[in-house]
Amino acid sequence: MAKDAVRVLVTGAAGQIGYALVPMIARGAMLGSDQPVILHMLDIPPAAEALNGVKMELIDAALPLLKGVVATTDVVEACTSVNIAVMVGGFPRKVGMERKDVMSKNVSIYKAQASALEQYAAKDCKVLVVANPANTNALVLKEFAPSIPEKNITCLTRLDHNRALGQISERLNVEVSNVKNVIIWGNHSSTQYPDVNHATVTISTGEKSVRELVADDQWLNGEFIITVQQRGAAIIKARKLSSALSAASAACDHIHDWVLGTPKGTWVSMGVYSDGSYGIPAGLIYSFPVTCANGQWSIVQDLKIDKFSRAKMDATANELIEEKTPGFINGKSEDFLSK
Ligand code: NAD
Ligand code: LMR
Repeated sequence: MAKDAVRVLVTGAAGQIGYALVPMIARGAMLGSDQPVILHMLDIPPAAEALNGVKMELIDAALPLLKGVVATTDVVEACTSVNIAVMVGGFPRKVGMERKDVMSKNVSIYKAQASALEQYAAKDCKVLVVANPANTNALVLKEFAPSIPEKNITCLTRLDHNRALGQISERLNVEVSNVKNVIIWGNHSSTQYPDVNHATVTISTGEKSVRELVADDQWLNGEFIITVQQRGAAIIKARKLSSALSAASAACDHIHDWVLGTPKGTWVSMGVYSDGSYGIPAGLIYSFPVTCANGQWSIVQDLKIDKFSRAKMDATANELIEEKTPGFINGKSEDFLSK
């Protein structure tokens, strides 16, 4: 029997990530090739005509899994009955800006959309925040949608995870699908810590550790980390626009694995609500290694953390604490956490 359609909201759908993402969703890259979808696309009134153009193209693509398209500038219509919400809408970072520079522009958007999701989305709606600053936007959304379970609100660090896999694959000249279990700890920002201490590569003789195969700790502890941390800025410099196809692809991977599960023995990185694991303060949205089963993520426990990693994990946690501190947003006292 055919499955019921899943309603997927994409905010900022007329933007560049949206344009890459909606066809991926409608072709099954997010929820599987047997899962019909109804796309809800939200943008703001100045982008309404462009949004309608995206809807026209989706119709023209004659996609068998696509059972309907709602293209709207009305946040209530957009959020009604959605099962998955991918929050892309916002102001993107331009050359020379840090992600936190776009914070004040995006916080007010996330407050409003949180309320609409809380009131009108399906009760078990899974939320992925992509728009920067992704971790703190997700925290704002959580604060203003208190009835959405905190486990259902996440942010995207899968792009950073995939970038780390890509760098190892390039360095070792191995298939990227044979590299696994890198970790992105912390903030989706230049303080994130890409950690390869538990990562492996499958070669003809079995699984080998990345550290052993690369055999260059100086590169792994230096250039590799910086390349992944700075990759977003490097893309902006090259394209004069922030990453879009890789971000859309990572958003599909994030939801795909959350809903359908991670393969045995493999973990992925997701920005999730910290429960205090690994000494990371509870209540931050922090990127951890997670496995997923039955639509739920769980933080991978008991990984050995050395001194080098500890310092980097704490530095990125401190940045997230700073981002949620009253007075940081807008440079004035806007204490969203104590409302
Ligand atoms: P874009 O400017 O091309 O598109 C953003 C869209 O959002 C625009 O169409 C805009 O009209 C719309 N928008 C603005 N305010 C809105 C609102 N209140 N409601 C609905 N829509 C709204 O930007 P983009 O390149 O698609 O990037 C989108 C966001 O994703 C940016 O914040 C960017 O920094 C972030 N990003 C995050 C990651 C990640 O890995 N987490 C990766 C790449 C980009
Ligand atoms: C990215 O990592 O590519 C995005 O977050 C865009 C940016 O601002 O770096």
